[in-house]
Amino acid sequence: MSDALDFVESNLPRFRAELYDFLRIPSISAKSEHEGDMRRAADWLADKLDAAGLEARVDDTPGHPIVLGRWHDAGPDAPTVLIYGHYDVQPPEPLEEWESPPFEPTERDGRVYARGSADDKGQLYMHVKALEALLAVDGSLPINVVVLAEGEEEVGSDHLVPYVAEHADELACDYVVISDSNMFAEGIPSILFSLRGLAYLEVHVTGARSDLHSGQFGGTVMNPANALAGIIAGLHDSEGRVAVDGFYDDVAEWDEETRQGIRSLPFDEDEYRRELNLPALVGEAGWSTLERLWLRPTCDVNGLLSGYTGEGAKTVLPNRAMAKVSFRLVPDQEPSRVARLVRAHVERVAPEGVRVEVRELHGGRPWRAKLDGRLVDAASSALEEAFGRRPVLQGEGGSIPIVVDFEEQLDASALLVGFALPGCNLHAPNEWFPLDAFDRGIGALVRLYGRLGK
Ligand code: BES
Ligand code: MN
Ligand code: MN
Repeated sequence: MSDALDFVESNLPRFRAELYDFLRIPSISAKSEHEGDMRRAADWLADKLDAAGLEARVDDTPGHPIVLGRWHDAGPDAPTVLIYGHYDVQPPEPLEEWESPPFEPTERDGRVYARGSADDKGQLYMHVKALEALLAVDGSLPINVVVLAEGEEEVGSDHLVPYVAEHADELACDYVVISDSNMFAEGIPSILFSLRGLAYLEVHVTGARSDLHSGQFGGTVMNPANALAGIIAGLHDSEGRVAVDGFYDDVAEWDEETRQGIRSLPFDEDEYRRELNLPALVGEAGWSTLERLWLRPTCDVNGLLSGYTGEGAKTVLPNRAMAKVSFRLVPDQEPSRVARLVRAHVERVAPEGVRVEVRELHGGRPWRAKLDGRLVDAASSALEEAFGRRPVLQGEGGSIPIVVDFEEQLDASALLVGFALPGCNLHAPNEWFPLDAFDRGIGALVRLYGRLGK
């Protein structure tokens, strides 16, 4: 193992240079004009898996391709690990807020700035390099490996769910390892005990045959923008709870040990608030900030559309309004059930005089870690050796929808160990990834795979 660590150490400049090539490909899954870039990124990654010594291929789907790499010569007695990540990235807009171009990786202050550097190309590539190091030095791996990288994580993983079902034999594994999340803080590695799920909806409100003069008609017809504002305002009660009947029915209790663990984390609410430049933190009454983030479900408007928003004043009564609304879910809430409850709620509270339609976009189930002893022990030691500090257990407010499907369909336990930091600007302008975490993290993964093979 120590030879593989030396190999990592002496090849870091090349590893980084390769990552920057990966980051230069604008693999934006949401935009059809980038279909060619999606294919290029998939082929690029498959080439690197092949060069590392895995059997690699690119599988087409009705959406973006899936990259698969396999190495199975460790034999039937060695565990099999499925490494999952995604090569698609979020759109970079607003472009004018980037200090360096999103697809031109730039090093500043020990960070590499680029879209996808943290989410998730940088983290995914660390695994590829850890495998390369082990194969280069030992000629073999201590475990069997399947690497699966998808191109549709940022748009809901629609084609990965059927893919996993259809390829269950090839994907069979004992453990799933994913690096697509954060460390707790700089220098404090972590292992996730949960991810939130998601139910994403659009609420459409339609009024008269067209926009109207707001003086000529105002006061006689329901304004869809007013109606939608009322519907949105009614989604929370005065305690910050989601005011949809039945919403909390399936929210599971957390054990005291987990809550105690959260309380013991070195977290400074005031620093969190100041870093976000906010006058105050708010949320559901009765829960701390980290509990609100990790243990409690939420409802947020993600976008609003209605009326005149250009320069100056226009006295118009818009004839439609739309809101994108999403709910972060916790165990054991089901996205489809939540969507049903929200539709019933909106239809019930919708005012007279407009038509209201709720459309379901996509969802993802929440995940709670099984915290398999062997897996967590191996990861804890590996992280401690690489970062000089034992990892903490933390939850995560974001979602990775496929994790539950992997566990259920492949009968495996997932380990989520991320190397980004909470301030890395995921999905935002100036996304970055810490180079130190890239370097140390590859070492941690070499150690993890070595330990799992023992
Ligand atoms: N890597 C993120 C999830 C994440 C975010 C983990 C922050 C840890 C910290 C992932 O790529 C993501 O953005 N997921 C989406 C899921 C959605 C598109 C179904 C999310 O959470 O919004
Ligand atoms: Mn991600
Ligand atoms: Mn993401």
